[in-house]
Amino acid sequence: MSRTDIVAGFSEGFHDAALCILDGDEIVHASHAERHSRVKGDRWLHPSQLQRLAGASIVAYYENPWKKNARRIWAGQRRAPMRTRYDVRFGHHQSHAAAGYYTAPFTDCNILVVDAIGEWETISIWDRMERIRSWRYPYSLGLLYSAITARIGLTPNRDEYITMGMAAYGEPIHDLSPLLERNLHGGCPDIFPDARDVDLAASVQAIFEEKLLELVALCPKENLVLMGGCALNCVANSKIRGKNIWIMPNPGDGGSAIGAAALVNRRKLRWRGPYLGTEMPRADPSVVVRELLRNKVCGVASGRAEFGPRALGNRSILADCRYDVKDTVNILKRRQKFRPFAPAVLEEFAEQYFSGPMNEYMQFTARALHDYASVIHVDGTARVQVVRKDCPSVLRQILEEWYEATGVPMLLNTSLNIKDEPMLDGVSDVQRFVSQNHIRVV
Ligand SMILES: [Fe+2]
Repeated sequence: MSRTDIVAGFSEGFHDAALCILDGDEIVHASHAERHSRVKGDRWLHPSQLQRLAGASIVAYYENPWKKNARRIWAGQRRAPMRTRYDVRFGHHQSHAAAGYYTAPFTDCNILVVDAIGEWETISIWDRMERIRSWRYPYSLGLLYSAITARIGLTPNRDEYITMGMAAYGEPIHDLSPLLERNLHGGCPDIFPDARDVDLAASVQAIFEEKLLELVALCPKENLVLMGGCALNCVANSKIRGKNIWIMPNPGDGGSAIGAAALVNRRKLRWRGPYLGTEMPRADPSVVVRELLRNKVCGVASGRAEFGPRALGNRSILADCRYDVKDTVNILKRRQKFRPFAPAVLEEFAEQYFSGPMNEYMQFTARALHDYASVIHVDGTARVQVVRKDCPSVLRQILEEWYEATGVPMLLNTSLNIKDEPMLDGVSDVQRFVSQNHIRVV
């Protein structure tokens, strides 16, 4: 394959379609279809994304649709349709691994991919980009986690993070290990009919953590790239010891659009952060701080939208965590009361306020060393966003001004959306949001 400059990579057809455009080693655009169509988890690329894709000299797809359909038929499912044409395709786990490897800050590493399922693979371990171990369907940690998510009445492939949050309220008293050998595509609706939801959540979290640590132990190198939708389990990630970990901030199937594109030229990408989507004018940090001082809550839509599930300051709702604002924000977002909120803290003060693993992408949980209850989960931890000095988001300036005004280097940070809706993307979304909700967006 010749070296090609403008490369498109995409994932589509199952859930969370996404597009990535590379120009040489620069990621010039990456976005989820749902942000354009406003259909949560939209499985098809949006017309505006297809337009961008048409400008590329080569188009790469993130998995092998023929192999995937063979497995789906074998498992008693319907064939997965496809719409968009591609020039080359790679393997599902290969694209996950590549999305991590080519954005990682190191070269010599192991990669551990854990998801629900690709074509047949459910877990894989790599030495750089060479696969060294592989586990196949039906044995799948991700499918088990999704099946329990469905069993407790939530939506699989979407609400696993709620299951993770619920786990802190329960006890891991149910042995779910026999389910790992079962075909779980139909879920497990009858398992432990009298169990409390929180205990099932705690039980699936416990077995997931145990198995994840066993897998990490099979990775001999100090540098570890963790990818696949299961890499979003920040509670489990925090139990990994003695590794230098990189998780591309969008480790699920959407993020594999980057992996598929990177596999065309197989060279390292210049990683500048996940702010890769639709661009909006930069917000004025002083206006945000004034609004927070007056009303305790303020929306921010500034710069390029985040690629991935976390709002990291460019499409965020910020709130004054010195007060009990949890209920206010939960009502505003129409979400369950037990759901925890995350803090964003200036890098210089992170260790003063939290102890344990934390980074700039909210991929770990740390113990809170302060009393600001709005940003502490019931188990005393928080999923911290450490806002570094070189963070490209306006959030850095907001926090600096906030610290000057209040003496607290921290704010509550949650995504700019209503429960079950995609995060806001561009100007028209913001206008609609403001007209329907009692919140100012700067
Ligand atoms: Fe996957």
